[in-house]
Amino acid sequence: MPSLRLFFLVTLFAAIVLAAPAPARKRNLQKRSFKVPRQLNPAHPRGLNGYDAMRKAYAKYGWGFIAARKNGEGAKLTPKVNAGNGTANGTGEVAANPEDNAALFLSPVEIGGQTLNLDFDSGSSDLWVFSTELPQQSIGQHSAFDAQKSTSFKQIQGAQFSISYGDGSGAAGIVGTDKVNIGGVTVENQAVELATAVSRSFVEDTNTDGLVGLAFSQLNTVNDGTKKTPQKTFFDNVMNDLDMPVFTADLDPDGTGTYEFGKIDNTKFTGEMAWIPVNASSGFWQFDSAKFSVNGQEQQNPTASKAIADTGTSLLLVDQAVAEAYYSAVPNAVNSAQVGGFVYPCDAQLPDMAVAIGNDYMAVIPGNQITFATVDQANTTCFGGVQGNGGAGLQIYGDTMFKAQFVAFNGGNQSLGFAPKKQ
Ligand SMILES: *[C@@H]1O[C@H](CO)[C@@H](O)[C@H](O)[C@H]1NC(C)=O
Ligand SMILES: *[C@@H]1O[C@H](CO)[C@@H](O)[C@H](O)[C@H]1NC(C)=O
Ligand SMILES: *[C@@H]1O[C@H](CO)[C@@H](O)[C@H](O)[C@H]1NC(C)=O
Ligand SMILES: *[C@@H]1O[C@H](CO)[C@@H](O)[C@H](O)[C@H]1NC(C)=O
Ligand SMILES: *[C@@H]1O[C@H](CO)[C@@H](O)[C@H](O)[C@H]1NC(C)=O
Repeated sequence: MPSLRLFFLVTLFAAIVLAAPAPARKRNLQKRSFKVPRQLNPAHPRGLNGYDAMRKAYAKYGWGFIAARKNGEGAKLTPKVNAGNGTANGTGEVAANPEDNAALFLSPVEIGGQTLNLDFDSGSSDLWVFSTELPQQSIGQHSAFDAQKSTSFKQIQGAQFSISYGDGSGAAGIVGTDKVNIGGVTVENQAVELATAVSRSFVEDTNTDGLVGLAFSQLNTVNDGTKKTPQKTFFDNVMNDLDMPVFTADLDPDGTGTYEFGKIDNTKFTGEMAWIPVNASSGFWQFDSAKFSVNGQEQQNPTASKAIADTGTSLLLVDQAVAEAYYSAVPNAVNSAQVGGFVYPCDAQLPDMAVAIGNDYMAVIPGNQITFATVDQANTTCFGGVQGNGGAGLQIYGDTMFKAQFVAFNGGNQSLGFAPKKQ
């Protein structure tokens, strides 16, 4: 009886709407908190292999991958984003990948009534999408936003964006505003960046139709041709209308999970949440991380690079000395130039790893959650979810950490909340 059920639902909904008080806010924000699933792209439901995960993370931050693989150092951190109409020209040398087996975890986003699957990325601040302005051969299998078909899209004359990565890849194009609906909450005039040019690596990565940047707006790359004119992120636009100015990342061991905006669901973690102030001056969710532990043995990180929380990176990239210290406790682990990182026999008993978040909280990743992927068909060699940053001077804490830790991003007082996830 689908029609009866639908009738019931419509009636129920009408009753709820009638009972609801008139919205007090300027935006039509009916919900004060909302959830968004994070799922594997159903069109390409394959996992990311270790080499690809490593290559992708290094490319994102403009680190030289090959150099880091050869000697464990020498990779340079170049700026992740460029204002203006330039393309970055980093030192990164990136080997071609023979297999197209990268997969990303994506969340549905409706822009001007069109649904795209986007990557929620706390490590950048642009909402950019593949668009029908791109040549058909660049669009390929991607879903592309068609501004002509949106009755609410308004181009911002003269505005452009240009994101470039140190490996020479990037995306650039025009900018407008449109209705953006995430999880049922709509921002009427969200800045949306439409790619008119993308580099080959984005074309080949058929999983990504674009990104929803969730770092601080100063990293946004929109400019008017001569100077930066950073646009607000979706989170910045909804933050003050939410019950709490937060979003949380709650990832399962398989990488799927939920982003929730406006609320901290304390059934998802154990104990009290620890709050750590972030230094947002770089635009990232950045904090100190000068200690680590292996099997509960706390040690100083001799390099003590700053760290950032990045939902757009698969791995936990720590200072090289920390990765070396961890894998020295794993029998027969080696840093394999061929595979691009630390590998070990899949039957190894891995020690627990913890990294400091600020001075007082240690984020623990249980040993049985360290493995990222198997390397060979027979599943004898495994690739670690903890890897070195090749001396790049920044530690990137990605999914390996989020699968073990429930993390709240608080834009109100610029802090991060951490607690171990319920197992
Ligand atoms: C970027 O600069 C190039 C060369 O100066 C120019 O041809 C191109 O039109 C510019 N692109 C945009 C989007 O302004
Ligand atoms: C990048 O830098 C290299 C070395 O300095 C130079 O040869 C090359 O032309 C540059 N590429 C671009 C696109 O600017
Ligand atoms: C930030 O806000 C959270 C949640 O309201 C609060 O528990 C925490 O103490 C605050 N942290 C800082 C550093 O102000
Ligand atoms: C925040 O980081 C910037 C560099 O990104 C640094 O100059 C500044 O001193 C830091 N602030 C604090 C409070 O640590
Ligand atoms: C290796 O692991 C994969 C994924 O868990 C599984 O599908 C496959 O059957 C395994 N292969 C062997 C030889 O055990």
